[in-house]
Order: sequence, then structure tokens, then C-alpha cells
Amino acid sequence: MTIRSKRLVKLGFLAATLFAQTQVQAASNELNLYSARHYSTDEAMYENFTKKTGITIKRLELGDEALLERLRSEGKRSPADVILLVDAARIAKAQSEGLFQATGSKALKNAIPDQYQGPSDMWYAFSSRSRVIVYNKDKVDSKLVQNYEDLAKPELKGKVCTRSGSHPYMLSLLSGLIANIGEAKATQWAEGMVANMARAPKGGDTDQIKAVASGECGVALTNSYYFVRMLRSDKPEDKDVVSKVGFVWPNQASFGTHMNVSAGAVAANAPNKEAAVMFLEYLATPEAQQYFANGNNEWPTAKGVNVTNQAIKSLGNFKADITPARVLADNTALSQKIMDRVGYK
Ligand SMILES: [Fe+2]
Repeated sequence: MTIRSKRLVKLGFLAATLFAQTQVQAASNELNLYSARHYSTDEAMYENFTKKTGITIKRLELGDEALLERLRSEGKRSPADVILLVDAARIAKAQSEGLFQATGSKALKNAIPDQYQGPSDMWYAFSSRSRVIVYNKDKVDSKLVQNYEDLAKPELKGKVCTRSGSHPYMLSLLSGLIANIGEAKATQWAEGMVANMARAPKGGDTDQIKAVASGECGVALTNSYYFVRMLRSDKPEDKDVVSKVGFVWPNQASFGTHMNVSAGAVAANAPNKEAAVMFLEYLATPEAQQYFANGNNEWPTAKGVNVTNQAIKSLGNFKADITPARVLADNTALSQKIMDRVGYK
């Protein structure tokens, strides 16, 4: 071999080594995020993470069910590192299917209150939302609708509207009732709700608020952020709706208003677990917490983080139910059985 050809071999080897290193570098500097969240303020949060860590985020945004389906079909070959989902019922489903792994992060355990931690370090909630009562101010006396249980009383026959009983938001609410008043009474509640319906369950929470304003329904349930979104809206039709609708923090004299969550987890087969944990730890920082919660008018969950969203602040203080989100998750299957049994479609 001539000196020149020896040099070429050496150069080739160097290039190959460099290429391999770049590949490793690229892999560890990239985070695959599967998210069921779709709020514009999240963008700034992702950019901020990249600026701080040099890790770029590749995002896949899908609806919750489609996202889980994708993870199932990808199986062990899934490129997902982090999974973001909304609602305890859906998180429970994903965990029961083995789609998460423990984070091993002490920082997360310390930053997020126990109420908002999943079992065995499997997931952490980064924002919370409440499920509130809205009523038509002309048609319903506010004294009759102060508690979730009130909506199932005979006085409200033909006045109650909700979305489907199988929707995660309704399942999680029932899961909370099971935890607070027991399975028997929670079942009676679901039966009473079915007996009181103004119409068969249909539409989303915003549709219920509108139907309350129009008078088709006297009272309904909605996640707080749908109501806050309307409160913040400049559209005349939204202002009109808000003017007709009263708002109640349910169960202030008992266990408090039901709280649900949006949560994150490390994917079971994460190729880049290190970056995944870094990202989840970042979500618990005060800075990211504001982006995360404000994007959808929710409450930040991390310890010591204050609410800065004025629209949420304007709703005032309230007593929140402290049932851990993991208990809601655990009760999901039972809730679905009860909804089926009582014909809550
Ligand atoms: Fe929602």
C-alpha cells in the first residue's frame, strides 16, 4: 500500500467515525413528542426548551384516541419519547396498556404534588381543570344547582344536559363521585342524571353551554376552560351566551369541585429516555408551567407556581376536590360499567 492510499484509508475511517458520532449526536439531540394537546402557546414552550437544552422537538399531534392507536400499532419500534395526554381516564387507559415507563426522576417527584402524580412514577400531571355547573339564569334557581348531586334530584327533571356518559370527562367525574360518596350513591346519581335529561347526551361541553343559554337545557356540566374561553371571547354571540349563563363551583360545602388533569409520561420504548425525562422536568419549571396552563386556561400543578391568567383569576377562589388523579384513573373501568348499566349513553 502506498503512503497515499494508506492516508485515504485513514481518512475514510475518520469520516466513518465522525459520521457515526454525528448520528449518535443527532439522536440524543432530538426528542419525539406525541401530544394530544394543540394549543398555540405550547409552541413557545417547545422553542424555549430547545433554546435551553439544544434538543430539538419532533412533534406528532393527534387526538387522544388516535394517538394511542398510533402507539399501539408502532409497538416496540415507536419513536415516541414523551406522551402528553388530557384526562385521567385516557391516561389510565394508556398506562394499563403498558405504553408508559417510570421516569426515575426525583425532580418530578419533588415538584409535582402527590395528588397529581401517577402510580409508581409512571406519569405526572402538569395542569388541572375543573368540571363546573352552568345554568340558565332565567330558568333555574341557582340554589337548586350547588352540587353535582343536585343535578340528579327530581326537582330538575327535564332540565339537565351533558355530553356523552362514555366521554372521559364524564367518566372521570363519576370516578371522583365514586371516591367521594361511594359506588352505590354514585350509581344512583348516574341514574338520576339519565332520568333528568332534557335531551339525549350529544355534542361537546361548549355545546352544552350554548344550549343552556338558548334555554333548551336548564343546567349542564362543562370543563372550566370552555367557559373561560367564552368569557375571554370578543365575539358578540359568545358575550350573549355568557350573559345568560350562571356559573357554580360545585360541592363547596362538601368534597369540593372535581379536578381533572393533563399529564405527561415517558413512552415505554423511548429511544431517548434521557431527553424525555429532561423535557418532563422542564414542564414542571415555573416558566413552562405558565405556558402549559395558560394555553388552555388551566391551572398550573407544580408546587409554588402562581396563577397569572387573569380570566381564571376572575373566577375567584374555590375549594377543589383533592382526590388524587390516579384514583380517578383507577375508577375509570367501573365508571364505564355504571354508565352502561344505567343507560347513560
Ligand atoms: Fe376539552
